[in-house]
Amino acid sequence: MAEKKELLYEGKAKKVYATDDPNLCIFEYKDDATAFNGIKKGSFEGKGEINNQMANFIFRLLEKKGIKTHMVEELSKRETLVKKVDIIPLEVIVRNIAAGSFSKRYGVEEGTPFKEPTLEFSYKNDELGDPLINDYHALALGIATREDIKTIANIAFSVNDALKEIFKNIGIKLVDFKIEVGRTAEGEIVLADEISPDTCRLWDAETNKKLDKDQFRRDLGEFAEVYHEVWARLNDYYKK
Ligand code: TMP
Repeated sequence: MAEKKELLYEGKAKKVYATDDPNLCIFEYKDDATAFNGIKKGSFEGKGEINNQMANFIFRLLEKKGIKTHMVEELSKRETLVKKVDIIPLEVIVRNIAAGSFSKRYGVEEGTPFKEPTLEFSYKNDELGDPLINDYHALALGIATREDIKTIANIAFSVNDALKEIFKNIGIKLVDFKIEVGRTAEGEIVLADEISPDTCRLWDAETNKKLDKDQFRRDLGEFAEVYHEVWARLNDYYKK
């Protein structure tokens, strides 16, 4: 089994370790959660275990649908071996229904379905608070080439189609989500980081109850409960 070497990076919700293979690293998910660029802090016991297993489970389902990811192998409840990638510093956000910053920015009521899914990029930079950035800005700054942006958009919409179906099967509407992509040693852009209730807005299809990190962001009171709920529904549906 791959062994953890030095800590390469500590993020808000996970640590990334080197291994003895320069092309592989190990994610260790923490129980922590932050919101509003780290200003609000919280956690619940077992969050790291749920998010690790849920992200891996979702990545496996996406791979079955032909989407390439950085995932190699789940090592333990909290740890996963992944391909080392150069993360492209863009948060790639797809939305199906208005919510969150979109609703605020454009004055559209939360819950308004879109005619077409939207795609936007934020520049991954904590000091600047991850500002919105457009394709031309990304090209001007050398963050991505035109071809990269096309590839990233294709990945984002393919993930949206696949995720919508995965969640529909367990009675959940996929409102929006954020992904990150990275370049492998071979130069291929693949899905990286994680997909979990930290990075998606998930609403119960019947009641519109929020089954995601908005429970924490908005102090709705059932942070841990809803993560357990989504994980239980995925297990019930897919592991029978
Ligand atoms: P937003 O409406 O706050 O822009 O969020 C859009 C989606 O992106 C939502 O599903 C939550 C997710 N997200 C992250 O994963 N990380 C972040 O830092 C932010 C701001 C949003």
